[in-house]
Amino acid sequence: MEEYAEVVRHLEGAEGLAAYELNISCPNVACGGIQFGSNAQMAAEVVAAARKVSRRPLWVKLSPNVADIGAIAKAAEQAGGDALTVANTYPAMSVDFRSRRSRIGNPTGGLSGRAIKPITLRLVYEASRAGGIPVIGLGGIDTAEDVLEYFVVGASAVQVGTANFADPNSCVRIIADLEKLCTSENIHRIRDLRGTFNAESH
Ligand SMILES: Cc1cc2nc3c(=O)[nH]c(=O)nc-3n(C[C@H](O)[C@H](O)[C@H](O)COP(=O)(O)O)c2cc1C
Repeated sequence: MEEYAEVVRHLEGAEGLAAYELNISCPNVACGGIQFGSNAQMAAEVVAAARKVSRRPLWVKLSPNVADIGAIAKAAEQAGGDALTVANTYPAMSVDFRSRRSRIGNPTGGLSGRAIKPITLRLVYEASRAGGIPVIGLGGIDTAEDVLEYFVVGASAVQVGTANFADPNSCVRIIADLEKLCTSENIHRIRDLRGTFNAESH
């Protein structure tokens, strides 16, 4: 808990930062290793601790591994968060049955990329309906269509992670495609799409 505030305190004197993003998908060692982001009370405490020492906007990056992301979203907002980043990776495994070993460095690791997009879309939908602060969508975005899908379910902005590993030029490509797609779809302002999801079945 103290380390979050300590880091922010150090960075307050630094130039060129637009905001802080608190990754709360992190084990609280003082609390048996349970993630800050898995519990509304703990999420609120860590956000409040950082809020006290921060003059810059505070984004809170939520863990997707929770039963009710709306409750965590509300707690982070009430504790002073200015925006939510939704979300981090999903604990997973990749196993080689021949060697009986993990294909990655550790027995388990975070699953990211295209496979997680439908799951994280749902979390962005729920987190954005739970409160009033902007939600930044993050999970499996690789195309301009992916970006617009996130906006429709409630995102105000997006981030791109894994796609950059496959192609470091991903963001440049996605932004260029986004402009073309919006033009061809007659979308004048991308923010007009935000939260326009129609829940009626078709
Ligand atoms: C190699 C790798 C390292 C990551 N390290 C961090 C990290 O240090 N802190 C964090 O909050 N998220 C970290 N993430 C999670 C990403 O920021 C992002 O939340 C997640 O991968 C989902 O987005 P994506 O599907 O676009 O990659 C990491 C992801 C990858 C693939």
